[in-house]
Amino acid sequence: MIRFFKPAVHILCSVPFFLLISDWLNDALTANPIQYLTLTTGKTALILLTLSISVTPIMFLTGKRFLNPARKLLGLYAASYATLHFSVFVGLDYFFDWELIKDAIFEKPYVLVGFSAFTILSLMAITSTKGWKRRLKKKWKPLHRFVYLSAFLVTLHYIWLVKSDIREPLVYGTIMGIFLLLRIPVIKNVITKFKNRNNSAQTAEV
Ligand code: HEM
Repeated sequence: MIRFFKPAVHILCSVPFFLLISDWLNDALTANPIQYLTLTTGKTALILLTLSISVTPIMFLTGKRFLNPARKLLGLYAASYATLHFSVFVGLDYFFDWELIKDAIFEKPYVLVGFSAFTILSLMAITSTKGWKRRLKKKWKPLHRFVYLSAFLVTLHYIWLVKSDIREPLVYGTIMGIFLLLRIPVIKNVITKFKNRNNSAQTAEV
């Protein structure tokens, strides 16, 4: 079962990409294909980023260590969909007009925060290899905690985009915030004590 876990993550993360290819081949990219591609790749990147952030707290709560490889894989897929999202913006929306792209980044706050989140995700994807882990030594872990800053920036990006109905971005923001809280040492200690007490109660019952 555990043997199939990594291939299953690869397959599941590739599904949105192949669905987009299928939509393209079947002429089903809607009346506004650029917007459809931007929204789909952006939403997929956000969902995978949220799932990637969920792995460590879920492992802590359930003790299921086999989930560990999913964190990096989901993070890499999130960064890949974010790259597609940015490429659609640069290539299809702005036709590689770098002057206009630069103006959009510095004049539209939602683009600026999206771009900052994208830069952080890309840096983390690049430094996720064993070689970079060895090179950065003790700095690697603190650097990769920036994932929470990118999650916050993506939530802001989404909130600024939707303007009126901010319920959906708030749902993602809250989920990611809860996962972040579960990593705070004081909260972790309280949960560990609670788990230990539960375990000893169960052992006493047996
Ligand atoms: C350079 C970076 C980025 C740019 C220029 C950018 C641009 C855009 C644009 C133009 C839209 C709106 C499309 C529309 O309403 O027509 C959008 C939506 C969105 N973007 Fe980004 N984005 C960037 C980075 C990111 C990143 C890193 C993520 C997630 C990891 C992300 C997630 C989203 C989401 C969730 C939406 C809304 C999807 C929906 O409403 O269903 N974006 N982005």
